[in-house]
Amino acid sequence: MIKYWLRAFTCVAFSLFTLTAYAENDNFTTSHFSGSGNCAQCHDNLTDTSGNDVSIVKDWGTSMMANATKDPLWRAKVATELERNSHLSSVLNDKCSKCHAPVANYEITQV
Ligand code: HEC
Ligand code: HEC
Repeated sequence: MIKYWLRAFTCVAFSLFTLTAYAENDNFTTSHFSGSGNCAQCHDNLTDTSGNDVSIVKDWGTSMMANATKDPLWRAKVATELERNSHLSSVLNDKCSKCHAPVANYEITQV
């Protein structure tokens, strides 16, 4: 059990740092997921009949959700929580990444 949490913590912490790289390269694929860049070829460059840009990936890319892992406020909050409660670091890393970095969390914990 401890080994599991240690592994999860190490992987999640590592992923949180490397996810920025994923954000730069949105054409990535993992065993369960695909980056939004792989959807853009069909779901971007779309306009409605009035010529308005209704590209789905572009719209999503600026959302809170798309930036949940890169958000500096979130990163700062996780860092202060980890500093204050270092004995709960594995719980915090798992809890916070479950929603804010779900791809990394899922890949690490659900293999
Ligand atoms: C090769 C072109 C192509 C690619 C690549 C593609 N899609 Fe699609 N997608 C379509 C088409 C065409 C439809 C509409 C199908 C229909 O209405 O019958 C669609 C529909 C959808 C819908 C349903 C939208 C709705 O309002 O019902 C979702 C969600 C979706 N795609 C997500 C994705 C995601 C996520 C990716 C990338 C992982 C992706 N698509 C990649 C062509 C593509
Ligand atoms: C159940 C899903 C979930 C979990 C677990 C979760 N969050 Fe969130 N968090 C969200 C959502 C959704 C938002 C955006 C809320 C909004 O925009 O109204 C958010 C927003 C935030 C924000 C505000 C970001 C901003 O820029 O406004 C911070 C900070 C934050 N979360 C920190 C954390 C921390 C720290 C943890 C772990 C202790 C955590 N979250 C766990 C779903 C979650």
